[in-house]
Amino acid sequence: MGVRKKVYVTRKLPGPALSMLSKQCDVTVHKGTMPPTRNEILKRVSGKDGILCTLSDRIDEEVMDAAGPSLQIISSYSTGFEHIDVGEATKRGIYVAYTSDVLAETTADLAFALILACARNIVQCDIYVREKKWKGGWTPDLMLGFDVHGMTLGIIGLGSIGSAVARRARGFDMNIIYHSIKRNLQVESELGLEYVGLSELLKQSDFVSIHATLNEDSIHLIDGLRLSKMKKTAFIINTARGQIINQKDLVNALKNGQIAGAGLDVFEHEPLSSSDELVRLKNVVLLPHVGSATHATREKMSNIAAQNLLNVLNDIDPIYLVNPEVKKIRSLTNNDSQVSR
Ligand code: DGY
Repeated sequence: MGVRKKVYVTRKLPGPALSMLSKQCDVTVHKGTMPPTRNEILKRVSGKDGILCTLSDRIDEEVMDAAGPSLQIISSYSTGFEHIDVGEATKRGIYVAYTSDVLAETTADLAFALILACARNIVQCDIYVREKKWKGGWTPDLMLGFDVHGMTLGIIGLGSIGSAVARRARGFDMNIIYHSIKRNLQVESELGLEYVGLSELLKQSDFVSIHATLNEDSIHLIDGLRLSKMKKTAFIINTARGQIINQKDLVNALKNGQIAGAGLDVFEHEPLSSSDELVRLKNVVLLPHVGSATHATREKMSNIAAQNLLNVLNDIDPIYLVNPEVKKIRSLTNNDSQVSR
């Protein structure tokens, strides 16, 4: 890199990523714990060569216009990239990079924590003790929950996170069924999973765990009708994206006892409003989107996001590229500008 490139980072990141970037670039980092406002993003990206963003930042045509022609890379500190207009970036020859499945095992740990928390009333038990309601010592019918071992787990989406959840479920002696856009015969035979249709999965499962990607087909994949196919004793777990479940329908199903409960790390609108009906329900465990939130994984994610960005600014492919077609667009543009010179 000859002249120092200019980079905008929308959040302070854990680990050495920011100092990695500062060694080679002029870095502007958004300060504070709240995400930058839309206006701030539009102002700060101007003239930048790279943007390092998170999934709270919508990076669309307007932001790309505000950045101007210098923008070469949008590197997201996330595995999901639905907050970025990838088509628009590709058209403009801008690389879009992400952290791929580096967070799979960590997110699978959390999905399993939610399965256990729902089944065994972990959160309610903790509140009960802290609120000094535990008066009777050992009690024959206190806080009875459900077994996890021997039960049927239905996994929706068998990518890297879904597969990691299946491996954990194997250790818990669960019967595992799955539904996915693509069958994964290798994981299926390695772990002894059964592939079933979505309705069958909902009908048979004691725990349904969602690991699908958010796209046009998966928005509200789980709605009132599909929830009504689940067992009354079943739980639904979502560590993927909130929009995959119709949240209003879920609230109704939870209120009407159509399903036993839910463990949710993601919501249709984040942060979840404190006045949301979900907050008043006792049969849900609510987490603030912390699937990948361990020290080790967040550090890995920030290093990858920084390295992806530096690679592109140094004319090297990013480690994890979302839009490989961009390379063709860029080579066409380079050839055109050489011809016209
Ligand atoms: C992601 O990276 O997409 C995750 O949801 C973050 O936890």
